[in-house]
Amino acid sequence: MDLLEAIDTRFSCRSFSAKPVDADVVRTLIEGAARAASGGNLQPWRIYALTGQPLAELKRRVAAAIGDNDPRESASTEYAIYPKELWGPYKSRREEHGVQLYAALGIPREDKAGRLIQYKRNFEFFGAPVGLFIAIDRRFGPGQWADLGSYLHTLMYLARARGLDTCPQQSWGRVHGIVRDFVQMPPEQMLYCGVALGYSDPSQAVNHIRSPRAPVDEFCAFFGFDDMQNDGKTVSASTQNR
Ligand SMILES: Cc1cc2nc3c(=O)[nH]c(=O)nc-3n(C[C@H](O)[C@H](O)[C@H](O)COP(=O)(O)O)c2cc1C
Repeated sequence: MDLLEAIDTRFSCRSFSAKPVDADVVRTLIEGAARAASGGNLQPWRIYALTGQPLAELKRRVAAAIGDNDPRESASTEYAIYPKELWGPYKSRREEHGVQLYAALGIPREDKAGRLIQYKRNFEFFGAPVGLFIAIDRRFGPGQWADLGSYLHTLMYLARARGLDTCPQQSWGRVHGIVRDFVQMPPEQMLYCGVALGYSDPSQAVNHIRSPRAPVDEFCAFFGFDDMQNDGKTVSASTQNR
C-alpha cells in the first residue's frame, strides 16, 4: 500500500477483530513512527504498549473503577480535551460527528444508556488486541504537544500501510490515574491519549463511517497561486480563470 492510500484509507476503527498483531510488527510501528519530525528533534513522545494479559488486567481495573458511572461526568482529565464551550464551525462539526457515529451504531439520540455503553467501549480499546498510550513530560508546551500529533499520525499511517487499523483515544485521559499506576508512568509525565491497534472488523457498520472534511477554501488562505500555472510560469488571472 502506498502512502496516499494509507492516508486515504485510515479511519477511526471502533470495532476490532480478535486477530492478534505480531509483536515484531508492533515494535516496528512504534520504532518507525519515531521518524516523525519534532521541533529541535526533541522526540518528546513516550510510549507504553500493552497486549495479552497486562492489557486484559488494565481493562479489568478500569471497568471496575468506572462501574456504572459515566466517566465524562465523574472523572476529570489532566488537560482540557476541548475548550469548555465550542464555537462555530467546530461546535457543529462535533455534533455532526456524534450524529454520524451513533446513527452507524443504530443508537438513537434519546438512548443515553446505549450511548454510555458505547462510550465505555473506549476503555476496552474497542476490542483491539493492542493498546498504546502516548505520554509527554508535563513541562513541555504547545510546540512539543504538536510533535505528539506528528508521532500519532505517522504511527497510524504506518499501521495502515501494513493493513492494520487504529483509533486514537483521548478518552483514556478520563482514567489517567489508573493508567499511570498500571504502566508506572513517572510523575513528570502526563497521558496524552490511547491508541487502539489491530485489524478492523469489517462486518460492523461503525467501521464504514467516512467522516467529512471541510472544503479546502474554508481552512486555507491561498496567496499568489491564482497567477501560477502548473509549470510555475506566471499567467494573467483572466487566462487562468477561463
Ligand atoms: C487525538 C485524538 C483523540 C481522539 N479520541 C477519540 C476517543 O477518545 N474516542 C473515539 O471514539 N474517537 C476518538 N478520536 C477519533 C475522532 O473522533 C476522529 O478522528 C474524527 O471524528 C475523524 O474521523 P476519522 O478518524 O475516522 O477520519 C480521536 C482522534 C484524535 C486525533
